[in-house]
Amino acid sequence: MNQEVARVRIEKLRKELSNHNHQYYVLSQPLISDLKYDLLMQQLMTLEKEFPVFFDPNSPSQRVGNDINKVFVQVEHKTPMLSLGNTYSFEELIAFDKRIRKEIDEQFEYVTELKYDGTAISLVYEHGRLIRAVTRGDGTRGDDVTDNVRTIKRIPLVLMGNDYPDLFEIRGEIIIPRPDFDRMNMEREAKGELPFANPRNASSGTLKMQNSAEVAKRPLDCLFYSIIGDNLPYSSHFENLLAAKQWDFKVSEHIKKHKDLSGVFNYIEKWNMKRDNLPFDIDGVVIKINSFSLQEKLGSIAKSPRWAISYKFKPEQVETRLLDVTYQVGRTGVITPVAILEPVVIAGTTVKRSSLHNADQIELLDIHYGDIVYVEKGGEIIPKVVGVDKSFRVPGSRPVQFITNCPGCGTSLVRKEGEVNHYCPNELNCPPQIKGKIEHFISRKAMNIEGLGEETIGLLFKNQLIRNVGDLYDLKKEQIVPMERLGEKSAENIIKSIEQSKEVPFSRVLFAIGIRFVGETVAKTLAGRFRSIEQLKNANFNELTGVEEIGDKIAESIIEFFLKDKNLFLIERLKSYGLQLEAYQTQPELKSGKLERLSFVITGTFGRHSREEIKSLIELHGGKNVAAVSSKTSYLLAGDKPGPAKLSKAGELDIDILSEEGFLRMIE
Ligand code: IVH
Repeated sequence: MNQEVARVRIEKLRKELSNHNHQYYVLSQPLISDLKYDLLMQQLMTLEKEFPVFFDPNSPSQRVGNDINKVFVQVEHKTPMLSLGNTYSFEELIAFDKRIRKEIDEQFEYVTELKYDGTAISLVYEHGRLIRAVTRGDGTRGDDVTDNVRTIKRIPLVLMGNDYPDLFEIRGEIIIPRPDFDRMNMEREAKGELPFANPRNASSGTLKMQNSAEVAKRPLDCLFYSIIGDNLPYSSHFENLLAAKQWDFKVSEHIKKHKDLSGVFNYIEKWNMKRDNLPFDIDGVVIKINSFSLQEKLGSIAKSPRWAISYKFKPEQVETRLLDVTYQVGRTGVITPVAILEPVVIAGTTVKRSSLHNADQIELLDIHYGDIVYVEKGGEIIPKVVGVDKSFRVPGSRPVQFITNCPGCGTSLVRKEGEVNHYCPNELNCPPQIKGKIEHFISRKAMNIEGLGEETIGLLFKNQLIRNVGDLYDLKKEQIVPMERLGEKSAENIIKSIEQSKEVPFSRVLFAIGIRFVGETVAKTLAGRFRSIEQLKNANFNELTGVEEIGDKIAESIIEFFLKDKNLFLIERLKSYGLQLEAYQTQPELKSGKLERLSFVITGTFGRHSREEIKSLIELHGGKNVAAVSSKTSYLLAGDKPGPAKLSKAGELDIDILSEEGFLRMIE
């Protein structure tokens, strides 16, 4: 096929596929079957591969993502992304209205919208094409997540119509509809992965994923709520949002204009009642002044505009019956009482269990088995029992009394003076503690051992293949293959991932071994100050508490940890397997982890830094310097007069080539 024919064909396919996307995702009226759609997509991808000159980041084929690992570049927002002041009562809204009328003595309109509970995103379009997507970040600067956002089918890459401004920004909320969220969690659980707590966490976590091909698999959606630009078609918010709808953006049909507060109140009441009927989560209503010139006149204070406010719904409370109380044993032996409830729907989800926190809380509630209890679910993940309706108490019912022995191993529980929690002291032999410790050890922020979920850990434990984290490093592929639901391939991946964990830096190993009160941040601080497990072990109370952020409680816990022989034995064992139990000698304290897991080959000379400086910058931000380009190299950092052999090898292996500027932006 000659180039011109290919160009015409590619363009036609792109248009066709974009139209089918619109029919499917916007109008919910697909015109062709999924199979035919996939065939068209394959044709397009084949042609694009054969004729790379026609590459276009906004082609429908780019929606599938790619598996290049990336570190997000920070980008400044042209206009800061402000937050909204919250109100919880109509009185507060009346006060808001009064403040506005003091400054504005003309007729104005309010616009009400739903307050979507997801993750904010800012998109920039130039000549009708998506050029950048940035997260809110700290409001001034956010992460450039363009590649990930391109995979979201409901976000237009190329706009429809022709009356959009040449350059504008549109903001919205990335959400995951409830039914999709529930399905995704079910699939995760079936694979032994941890379910997400709520759609909000899932959407923000997904946006920051390293691999856009994975993002493409998640059911993300986006609802838009604000447009910013110099040449917008209208001078008011509502009208511009309607225009954006014509350009293919998803704008909720539930936005409304009002002449005064009474309409606003009706809108709030309506959605407070009907929020569970929506396919996505909302946590309130946003009230905005429609006219841009009035918005400008009112301006903003601190981080919130004075022309908009949110009304937050009160957390929904329901009544249900307490059926039983069970007790969970955490990895550090903490016992958490859990209320088993008669299933009840709160905020769209069925709740069967809820935390009762600790023995004091049980006493405070004065709760009996069979009581009618009030359960509340705020924005939080875990519902809470907030009260008891004693007037319905069955005479003679038994009060809930905190257990005295561990439900996992039967050992007598202890409660230290001044602490609210009960503990099981049988660290060595209590099965739920052992499993919990291993689950923590392998988790993403710790040793990041992939392929091993809660379920697999349970199986390995049941089959007596692991009793502590050290045993992971003795596992053989042949031992894993015969286990239920696992096969050759998964076993291979597990072993590979365990092997790779030997490269995990000291601070994360320190977090992984699970010393009580040593979380991710504390572990980083300790690793920065003490440099090796030996030095940490030898540190006394004063030396420990002399470090900023390390208080008495943490220091005591560290000392206690190193007093136990079984911990010292485990550390020696981990050392013998080659885990990083000291910080790299050449590596001074890390400035950031932005280049963590990335390896760089440098070539040529640089304008702003010497080669040595560049090398140490790589290390200071957690990256690795390597001498030769291989398939494992993340980037070839090329300056002036780069080595031709390295360049061609990088080209051959499809390794990204980075300029000095690009590199500096990465660590900015
Ligand atoms: S307008 C300056 N409208 O709420 C006001 N925000 O605290 C800009 N949000 O981070 C926000 N739904 O992500 C606006 N209909 C809506 C919204 C909305 C959800 C989020 C937004 C922002 C936060 C404001």
